[in-house]
Amino acid sequence: MNNFKFPYSRADVNKSDIKAVVKVLENQYLAQGNVVKNFENSMKKKFKVSDAIVCNSGTAALHSVYRSIGLDKKNGIITTPITFLATANAAKMCNAPVFFADVDSQTGLMTPKSLKEAFNKVKFKVKAVVVVHLGGHICDLEGISKIAKKNGSYVIEDACHALGAIYYGKEKSYVGSCKYSLASTFSFHAIKNITMGEGGAITTNNISLANKIRLNISHGMIKEKRKMINSPKDSPWYYQMRDFGWNYRASEISCALGLNQFKRIDRIIKKRNLTANLYKKYLSSNNNIILPNFSKNLYAKGWHLFQLSIDFKKLKIKKHLFMKHLSNHSIGSQVHYIPLVNQPYYKNNVEKKFLIGSNIYYQNTISIPMYTSLTKQDVKYISRVVNDFFN
Ligand SMILES: Cc1ncc(COP(=O)(O)O)c(C=O)c1O
Repeated sequence: MNNFKFPYSRADVNKSDIKAVVKVLENQYLAQGNVVKNFENSMKKKFKVSDAIVCNSGTAALHSVYRSIGLDKKNGIITTPITFLATANAAKMCNAPVFFADVDSQTGLMTPKSLKEAFNKVKFKVKAVVVVHLGGHICDLEGISKIAKKNGSYVIEDACHALGAIYYGKEKSYVGSCKYSLASTFSFHAIKNITMGEGGAITTNNISLANKIRLNISHGMIKEKRKMINSPKDSPWYYQMRDFGWNYRASEISCALGLNQFKRIDRIIKKRNLTANLYKKYLSSNNNIILPNFSKNLYAKGWHLFQLSIDFKKLKIKKHLFMKHLSNHSIGSQVHYIPLVNQPYYKNNVEKKFLIGSNIYYQNTISIPMYTSLTKQDVKYISRVVNDFFN
């Protein structure tokens, strides 16, 4: 990916990020310190939630939520197949079954209708519906949460693509505010809207869930005396473990980067929105391409990806030749995602034949460069190369 002049994604690291990381290194306090806490508090304040927990990946965030709500052999999830492996894999880490609901063929998102159909077919108890805000486009949270509630399931938001986006429901709220969900999870992997190199976070308004998640990310280890059972007196060294957990903690170093980037998330989204609108300007006259949905509201989309929908089959062109054309001009592109049910590990899922929208989405959709350092000239150039392919 990095060999291209224009990769499909690139991190936004500036001098103040570097300064923030160096400051931590100079302090030599590298783990479990104040920077992690400050990052969590910043997130809590911005999203107006009772808890934010930072961890070392989006996968760790998902796994910690899944385990803390009690996923197991008999309690599974419904999610969509157009997502990164981790959304479903984290349920498998709890030995939990996964049922795949279809997506809208144009947006790649779960819809209330596709969720309803999934509930009619699923054979196990669905503890949670996990929505994926693909590419930074937000699912119909109100519609989906109503159906989930009716079926006795929680809603979890895999918001790994949607940091900084606002959901315009009855009232507007940041993704991560958990107005319609039990918890939201984020990834701060190198190419997400903000990065810690590798990292993640969970937000929730449920205190008891947050406490369980905190145990899960740190060996199940209790350090507060008031939470222990029969802690011995006069034993300041004492810690207690009642259930096992992982080491999913993030370092002070990576949190320094994450926190510093988080402070400018609104600016990052504004820039991504600008880039999306430039693509719209240069590509909307191309009848071979359907552009992603736009909104009149500046922060309504996270714009983690910029995805084109092209009916390759109808146009009798090969997707790989389009990608080759782009790469010949030093432009990276990617497919997000291969449906999970196409993976050998998930191939026995019975719902595969019903996933018509997912299959169309997979066939037609391709991501082209989207990141903050793209200039107007860059977007113009990339759009020209895209348009040239069809001439
Ligand atoms: C939708 C989605 N969910 C989960 C993850 C997992 O995040 P991480 O790579 O930080 O473990 C990713 C990351 O690529 C993702 O895109």
